[in-house]
Amino acid sequence: MKQRIIEVCPALPMFQYFGTDRAQVIVVVDVLRASTTICTAFDYGAEKVIPVAAVEEAVDYHNKGYFVAGERGGIKLDFADAGNSPFEMMTDEIKGKTVVLTTTNGTQAIQMACGKNLTVIGAFINLTILKNWLLQRSEDVLVLCAGWKNLIGLEDVIFAGALAESLAQEGNFLMNSDETFMAYDLWQLAKYDIQAYISKFSHTKRLVSIGQDESIEYCFKIGVSGSLPFWNNGALQKYIF
Ligand code: MLT
Repeated sequence: MKQRIIEVCPALPMFQYFGTDRAQVIVVVDVLRASTTICTAFDYGAEKVIPVAAVEEAVDYHNKGYFVAGERGGIKLDFADAGNSPFEMMTDEIKGKTVVLTTTNGTQAIQMACGKNLTVIGAFINLTILKNWLLQRSEDVLVLCAGWKNLIGLEDVIFAGALAESLAQEGNFLMNSDETFMAYDLWQLAKYDIQAYISKFSHTKRLVSIGQDESIEYCFKIGVSGSLPFWNNGALQKYIF
């Protein structure tokens, strides 16, 4: 059986240099917090999530009566129904509804990836279901890390390392690029005490400094979500197994 490649794009501006013209699943990750929040929205019954890049677009959706969640710089947008904390998705208010989400980096990353190849959302909370699903498929895998304003976010890189490790251990996956080795090696440094390791991350400190630290621990809980969001026809939907 053909060996599959797992690649990691550590920052959004590098995405253009990765080949996407082959059978490939793109896993978009923004551990803190957009991809965790999206998985949580589906865990709590959201029907669809529409990621929008521009605040103006989110305002339009809000005016049409949609439930809109969003932040800039981590801080909830004034007009929005919720910010970007996964805890704000743990509500009956979103059950059966479409959630519109706009965030500083995560929704931009999704917009960049969607339509190119099969695009799914990854986070530590859905790592187990994501990994098991990928193991049953045949495409190569590219993890697109959302990071922070075109720079690296280590929380996304260690997620990519964790996914690469489990795919290589349990499946016929090959790590053959420096970006993937970097992610894998950093995950080795992080995995035995994740909470200690993440305390130095820029975005961890940023969230703490704006009083948005209540969900950080949750964002690094492995496998607690049963949702695999995938891009389908203009929105994210929960994959039905
Ligand atoms: C983002 O998309 O940039 C992040 O999710 C920001 C945040 O933590 O709210």
